[in-house]
Amino acid sequence: MQRQGHIIILLGPPGAGKGTQADRLSSSLGIPSISTGEMLRQECRSNSAIGLQVKSLLDAGQLVKDELIQEVVALRLMQPDCAQGCIVDGFPRTAAQARFLDKFLAGSAFCPPIVFDLAIEPEILIHRLSSRRQCPTCARTFQVVNGASNRCPHDEAELVVRSDDQPAAIRRRLEVYAENTSEIVRFYQNRGYHKLDASQPVELISQKVLRALGAAAGSPGDFARPLAATHQLYA
Ligand code: AP5
Repeated sequence: MQRQGHIIILLGPPGAGKGTQADRLSSSLGIPSISTGEMLRQECRSNSAIGLQVKSLLDAGQLVKDELIQEVVALRLMQPDCAQGCIVDGFPRTAAQARFLDKFLAGSAFCPPIVFDLAIEPEILIHRLSSRRQCPTCARTFQVVNGASNRCPHDEAELVVRSDDQPAAIRRRLEVYAENTSEIVRFYQNRGYHKLDASQPVELISQKVLRALGAAAGSPGDFARPLAATHQLYA
């Protein structure tokens, strides 16, 4: 079978910067990024059957059912724009999802996944999530600190607080992450697993990922060469 692109998996707790890095990598590498959280939020915004089913879970910071999200991700990965690879932000989140993805990839033309684990202290996350605002139109996120505008610089829409960025939901999301993470890390540890310090500046983290991928100036084909199994990229 002719091998296609890699799936780049971004792991990390809520607020670690998965979405931020996924967008940057997508632009640098010219491949799509898939955010399972954003796909679900989109379903909620459009009041679809899936949206109505999952809204209360998202608002409470709980995970949606493995079977549902697995189907959503598999359908998305089969779209033609993912053929050269893609960045997956927010999946897998349970060991069952990781096993599902492995099986799916084994039966596909994708190369084995490359995993970046964005590790960071909870105190920093709580600060980031409490000051995060999202544009309801373009879904971009921003840090709103003292004196910053509450309007999206791209489409002027008023920025909103994500429904799961309320203190109780943030706490629950961090707990859910802690309950599942060690199993997922064990699952990937000896194959394409890279741990990064997510408290570093956004740009530096992106550079480290791109360096690890061996990507030269936005060409996705350049990172298809084999990478060492495990890297610790703490500076
Ligand atoms: P999801 O949307 O994936 O939420 P999450 O994992 O909680 O992650 P966040 O989006 O909150 O944070 P992030 O890591 O993307 O950080 P960001 O880049 O925004 O999922 C939401 C919900 O959907 C889940 O709770 C669940 O209910 C459901 N769901 C999704 N996937 C599922 C699955 N597979 N299975 C079951 N349920 C699922 O950055 C945060 C802030 O920090 C931003 O304001 C940003 O500007 C800032 N920032 C980022 N990086 C830096 C940096 N290096 N330095 C300073 N600031 C930074």
